[in-house]
Amino acid sequence: MNKNNINNLNENSPKNILVLGGSDGIGLAICKVYEKLGYNVYITSRSIIENSNKFVFYSLDATKEESWQKFIKDINEKNIIFDIIVNTVGILHDDKNNIFPEKSIKNLNSNFFMQNIEVNTLVSALCMKYLVECINKNKNTIIAHLTARLGSISDNNIGGWLSYRASKAAQHMVIKTTSIELGRNYKKLIIIGLHPGTVDTKLSKPFQKSAKKVFTAQESAIKLMTVINNLEFKDTGKIFDYTGSIVPY
Ligand SMILES: NC(=O)c1ccc[n+]([C@@H]2O[C@H](COP(=O)([O-])OP(=O)(O)OC[C@H]3O[C@@H](n4cnc5c(N)ncnc54)[C@H](OP(=O)(O)O)[C@@H]3O)[C@@H](O)[C@H]2O)c1
Repeated sequence: MNKNNINNLNENSPKNILVLGGSDGIGLAICKVYEKLGYNVYITSRSIIENSNKFVFYSLDATKEESWQKFIKDINEKNIIFDIIVNTVGILHDDKNNIFPEKSIKNLNSNFFMQNIEVNTLVSALCMKYLVECINKNKNTIIAHLTARLGSISDNNIGGWLSYRASKAAQHMVIKTTSIELGRNYKKLIIIGLHPGTVDTKLSKPFQKSAKKVFTAQESAIKLMTVINNLEFKDTGKIFDYTGSIVPY
């Protein structure tokens, strides 16, 4: 990565950003940052949320193909093309069923494991399958999936949290594989993973005590925007942390 600001390479037309799972947490903070930069901000959520004068909301359960099909039909009918797509959909624990990341393999719960794969991995793959219809081959485009350093296989020194780690490692494979395939035809597309740091959201709430530093969602969103801003085409397929340093696979 260097200071070659990819956003400056785009023509001066109004830009569109789509944030998946943007009704809360880091996603909502990213929306606010880009709204201030003059972007048209589109948000998806499972909840029905009224459109505000700042953001356009769409209902999407990103784990379900039927929901994607309906969403993409709506977007295509309006001829909306996205310049930046940020996928912030993810889970770490299951509040409703009181299930938390595994401290030991003995705690493995197959439903929770599959839920992690569905939300943390499958959503990234579906995002690539469907949203490729809503980008322009001739325009610089960035698709960033929020991930976690815990998904790094080579950086795993303490074990634990098996379902989350496995689903995020698999998410990295989705990022790398789709970057290779789509890179053949979409020469101006950059697909990356972004580790946001430990951030004060409902996802991290039960685990913040053990973190060295906890960012507000706004702090993290500004750092992630800076990383996105400094991307180059050769960065596609890579995973970055909030400082712009590479997270190894
Ligand atoms: N917070 C941290 O410390 C931290 C650290 C490392 C990585 N991350 C990653 O950053 C991303 C965003 O996390 P966050 O902290 O902003 O969490 P968050 O506030 O809980 O937001 C996650 C979003 O995921 C969507 N979601 C959750 N469960 C879902 C399900 N079962 N099906 C479909 N969508 C679901 C929700 O969107 P709707 O309810 O609006 O549909 C929610 O807004 C995640 O990928 C997470 O792994 C976070």
